[in-house]
Amino acid sequence: MSTVDGEPTSTIPRITTARLVLRGLRAGDLDAFAENLADPIATEHLGGVVDRRAAWRVLAAGTGFWMLTGAGWWGIALRETGELVGTVGAFFRETPGADLELGWSVFRRHWRRGYASEAAQAALAFGFERHAVPRAIAHIDGRNAASIRVSARIGMTYEGEVDFYGERTGRYVIARRS
Ligand SMILES: CC(C)(COP(=O)(O)OP(=O)(O)OC[C@H]1O[C@@H](n2cnc3c(N)ncnc32)[C@H](O)[C@@H]1OP(=O)(O)O)[C@@H](O)C(=O)NCCC(=O)NCCS
Repeated sequence: MSTVDGEPTSTIPRITTARLVLRGLRAGDLDAFAENLADPIATEHLGGVVDRRAAWRVLAAGTGFWMLTGAGWWGIALRETGELVGTVGAFFRETPGADLELGWSVFRRHWRRGYASEAAQAALAFGFERHAVPRAIAHIDGRNAASIRVSARIGMTYEGEVDFYGERTGRYVIARRS
């Protein structure tokens, strides 16, 4: 697998957990993905709703990150039915040497079933296994109680407020254990 400076790769790992499969996003996921990003409640802490065209770019970018850095976003599907229930990422931002960052989003009708925590735990474990980074971080708005709970469940702790593209936001961190 490539690193930030390595050869591009198109391989997106498939990860299985107790109830979920983390798999590469597909063009056919756009309807569900765009529907979620058009929901004002689901996007309250993500900067607000976006249209289908913007959703397509977000989906494509999360997939393209894999080619550029060997890290990126997965679709979260239910093992039992294959239904897409959200997305999770362990990815690098544009800044060279940036921390490995985690992100998660579960479609609203599937909230509070532990899916985000289960997927984030798997993404974090994979990220530490694949990338020689000392720690992983997440940026979470202080009003986003659900997301803060997810970060706590996977062992992240609050580091402090940081500037995040011009906005103050919380940074949560977890150090590599081994
Ligand atoms: C944040 C989000 C991914 C959580 O997904 P989820 O699958 O419902 O989370 P889980 O079921 O794993 O729940 C994790 C914890 O959060 C709690 N929780 C879930 N929704 C909550 C809410 N609306 N308010 C308060 N706590 C909530 C759960 O009870 C659980 O707590 P526990 O550890 O004490 O049992 C989901 O709410 C979401 O997609 N929100 C919109 C996108 C977003 O904000 N992403 C994060 C950006 S930083």
